Amino acid sequence: MKIAMVGTGYVGLPQGAVFANVGNKVICVDCLEDRINEIKKFCDGQTNKLPVHESGLNELVLRNYSSKSLDFTTDINYAVKESDLIFLCVGTPANGDGSVNTQYVLNVAKEVGNAMNYADDIYKMIVIKSTVPPGTAKEVSKVLKNTTNNNFDIISNPEFLAQGEAVSGSHKPDRIVIGLPKEKYFGSLKADSKSVELRETFRKLYAPFNMKGEDKVFFMTNEDAELHKYIANTYLAAQIAITNEAANLAKKVGANWRRLSAPFKYDHRIGSFIHPSTGFGGSCFPKDVKAIVKVFEKEGVESKVISKIIPANEYQKLILNQSLNEFYDSNLKDKTFSIWGLSFKAETNDTRESSAIEIIADLLKKGAKVKAYDPEGVPDMKLKLSERQDISDLLENIEFFSTYTHNSKYDALKQSDGLMVLTEWMEFRQPDFMEIKKLLKIPIILDGRDLFKPEQMKELGFNYICIGNENILQ
Ligand code: UGA
Repeated sequence: MKIAMVGTGYVGLPQGAVFANVGNKVICVDCLEDRINEIKKFCDGQTNKLPVHESGLNELVLRNYSSKSLDFTTDINYAVKESDLIFLCVGTPANGDGSVNTQYVLNVAKEVGNAMNYADDIYKMIVIKSTVPPGTAKEVSKVLKNTTNNNFDIISNPEFLAQGEAVSGSHKPDRIVIGLPKEKYFGSLKADSKSVELRETFRKLYAPFNMKGEDKVFFMTNEDAELHKYIANTYLAAQIAITNEAANLAKKVGANWRRLSAPFKYDHRIGSFIHPSTGFGGSCFPKDVKAIVKVFEKEGVESKVISKIIPANEYQKLILNQSLNEFYDSNLKDKTFSIWGLSFKAETNDTRESSAIEIIADLLKKGAKVKAYDPEGVPDMKLKLSERQDISDLLENIEFFSTYTHNSKYDALKQSDGLMVLTEWMEFRQPDFMEIKKLLKIPIILDGRDLFKPEQMKELGFNYICIGNENILQ
């Protein structure tokens, strides 16, 4: 099939490369000239870095660019003319009030409509991959109707890719959701020829990813598909919120969360997000849950549960700080704390909504100094902290360490009054505890990812504060 991917970010680029890899002809288009140049330089061997870091992506892009199944351009007219399916993969950032700004999607829809005017009697399928609130497909349809007399259908095809796993996730999706315009969706009982053609196109497109086991393709209406995406992330975010709250209770009653939660994985109804943390972060859960709460408000439907997820998560972000404060009798002034892990999860340099931001801001405000180490996340964290007005005059009290500056995680520990581990990077899972003890002024570890064994910490003589288990105070 001939496909255009509009937007070459964390979704468009990996998904475009994966479509190309299974025999489609894909043109990735972006309005950012620098970005397209960067990708092309990579493809021509002039650099070794793509603007998107995803495991397996470099090889996939190179291979498909060389075989001419994947191309890159800033020319949307060319991309639209050459393609039958046009995927919209542009960002949907949050407005100040938490609602979604769909302006980029609507602007791109307008450009696609204009680009479709190169001839009469043209038909294109416009596929929305961006995460958009219910009703956006209808708005996109209106925009296109205002810009072209040619024919089109709007399809909602949300993605369920986790950052860092976009390539493997695109190759092995757990489900494929296809939303059709309501008037073309007739369930399985009655279908006109256009509805049949739409279904067949998407069955064919996703056939290489739907070969084994049960059929993973689900047809529904646009509104269904749009809401499905939000509710999927809401379920997952709610589960993390419940995990964290339950782990806090486990700690209080002297139970051990890791022990008691392990059997949950044998109850398929419960799911797998059972790892306690200092709250979820990233570009998806916080944004999508806030957005769906706004949809509840807009529609006048009361939310008694979902609206509590974000406040619970914000509370959880500072749960270790509370313990640290207690440990030092509310006097953190002039103490120095080391932090291992700045990115919102392992295997990414992304620090968006990472709990480390709130944790660092709180420590600085209490008069403490911070030494922060992350293998990848330092540049992004520096940027995020520089955007915080409330700590702008305290930033001199933070020192960064990273592999970029040839520092090891141990360099960030010297003369510190404690270590907090906030991201589950592999390199933090089995550190040299004797070295940690030697370098810290006071042997205290605060484990925000449930990484270490309490018994071992006790044996090694650490004070150990974690989530989901009683504190070990020596
Ligand atoms: C999430 C979803 O998992 C994807 O299915 C979805 O497609 C994506 O958002 C999106 O909407 O694009 P992602 O944000 O990459 O993917 O990250 P996750 O791996 O789901 O983790 C999110 C946050 O929850 C991280 O901060 C992670 O550390 C935290 N988490 C996760 C926990 O605290 N505990 C857990 O048990 C699991």
